[in-house]
Amino acid sequence: MILSFADDAPLAADLRPDWRALLGARAGELELEIGSGHGGYALAFARAHPQRALVAVEQRRKFAADLEARARARGHDNLVVICADGRLLAPRLFAAGSLAAVHVHFPDPWWKRRHHHRRLVDDGMSQLLFGLLRPGGLLDFRTDVEAYAAEAAPRLEAVGFANGAGAGRYAERPEGEIPSTREKRYLATGQPVWRLRLRRPG
Ligand SMILES: C[S@@+](CC[C@H](N)C(=O)[O-])C[C@H]1O[C@@H](n2cnc3c(N)ncnc32)[C@H](O)[C@@H]1O
Repeated sequence: MILSFADDAPLAADLRPDWRALLGARAGELELEIGSGHGGYALAFARAHPQRALVAVEQRRKFAADLEARARARGHDNLVVICADGRLLAPRLFAAGSLAAVHVHFPDPWWKRRHHHRRLVDDGMSQLLFGLLRPGGLLDFRTDVEAYAAEAAPRLEAVGFANGAGAGRYAERPEGEIPSTREKRYLATGQPVWRLRLRRPG
């Protein structure tokens, strides 16, 4: 299903859908993906985990529409696609402490130093994601840009995330982990991926 919100909805508005009415018991296992792109992760997640639900937020209209069409064609009713800026919408969609996991896979690197402030995982977003996750909830961050991961790790740990790999260290790829569209390419070519698997302490 696709939910859309008016571009000019006032920022203070509470847009929180009734997740339980939309998703039933799966609302208790709600996960968020920000920047789902072509949707390889979201579609595979929906197929692999029918008892869980994923909200995929993608700001590019065409990517979001294509993903929603493919999800609908495959009959995935545990995948909600939203076309929006995840930074603006996430705090209005979910109650604090309500998410089981947040996935951020290969966020745009914004290479130039003067553009670093546009990176998705900044101080505000780190704090926000920490607050949206339930105790024990997972932040699954993957990137092909080591400098981004190196910057994100201490920032996320500073807001309270626990890093099971050790402070500032990267996680191994868990066996059977679902790859994103971009990651599939890297798995084929052997290009390195830096991953953080951080938890909100229980
Ligand atoms: C490099 S692509 C990675 C796509 C996908 N996660 C993957 O690994 O194949 C980054 C995606 O994030 C989206 N994006 C960037 N900033 C976003 C934001 N603030 N909210 C929602 N989507 C965003 C872009 O439009 C793009 O589709």
